[in-house]
Amino acid sequence: MSLVQPLILKSQQHHASFLRFSLVNREALADCLSQIQALYRAEDTVIGFGQPLLAMNNTVVEGVKSAESIQGPKRTSPANQDDLWLRASGSDPGEVMLRVQEWLDVLVPSFSLNEQVDGFCHREGRDLSGYVDGTENPEDNAEQVVALTGEKGIAGSTMLAVQKWQHQLKHFNSLPSKHQDDIIGRRKSDNVEFPESPPSAHVRRTAQESFTPEAFMLRRSLPWIEQQDCGLNFVCFANSFYPFEAQLKRMLGCEDGIEDGLFEFSRPLSTAYYWCPPVDGEQLDLCYLQL
Ligand code: HEM
Repeated sequence: MSLVQPLILKSQQHHASFLRFSLVNREALADCLSQIQALYRAEDTVIGFGQPLLAMNNTVVEGVKSAESIQGPKRTSPANQDDLWLRASGSDPGEVMLRVQEWLDVLVPSFSLNEQVDGFCHREGRDLSGYVDGTENPEDNAEQVVALTGEKGIAGSTMLAVQKWQHQLKHFNSLPSKHQDDIIGRRKSDNVEFPESPPSAHVRRTAQESFTPEAFMLRRSLPWIEQQDCGLNFVCFANSFYPFEAQLKRMLGCEDGIEDGLFEFSRPLSTAYYWCPPVDGEQLDLCYLQL
């Protein structure tokens, strides 16, 4: 039986809210961890802890670190690390909202809510640009790609990178469809990758097997909307932060000065890293934090 939080491995995406928190009452942490464990439900929750919280708890998980801003030749990818991250999922937005309320009742006031991003599944897994997102996910060996190995409490845990992107959709939609396809490197009409795409095409920048070592990750992103703003809440899991960082650096043009076409219509607003503990049966396994 898998030790990875089950919702991470589920390819079918639900609607979901993504919440990030800071710990404001350090003394309440032990109690809060027990309450988190009690409220966790494998079918509708993914939870991750940031390095600052782990440090306050004197927990060292090898490879876990805080996100830092990354400088490219033309722009910076910003970072803003938090203590706790939560994905609350449901089959409709009402279910998600009710579940979020349950979480807030337990977490606040020991934690303060820094941001809630309400995500939704758009046209069976498309980004708001209209392109299918997730095609090249390594679903067949997803567990191998995301799961850490090691002692109980570490085995089955995963590293998570979250990056909120804001789109300029009006600009994107004003571009000819050939130009849009060149930005992504796949055709919107049939989702086929075409060989004559420019080197800035997103799928050429991020081709997972083109890195040394290879940089495979499992993406579980969802579109978001807040009034007139919109974008993609990019969420990816792997067994280290290497795949995310290697790809982001190439997207920024750190290797060859060529920026990812995505920057023509979208930009990252924030980045954070988390460690997602494993499960033991249906329960969240926090034994590594409660040593
Ligand atoms: C505005 C933000 C983004 C959008 C709209 C977006 C959209 C897409 C689309 C449409 C695809 C092609 C279909 C697929 O394989 O999923 C794709 C592929 C991919 N994207 Fe993104 N993406 C975004 C950000 C990122 C970021 C920040 C990373 C990593 C740092 C990333 C990594 C990947 C990878 C690894 C692939 C598969 C490449 C391959 O092996 O063919 N994406 N993305």
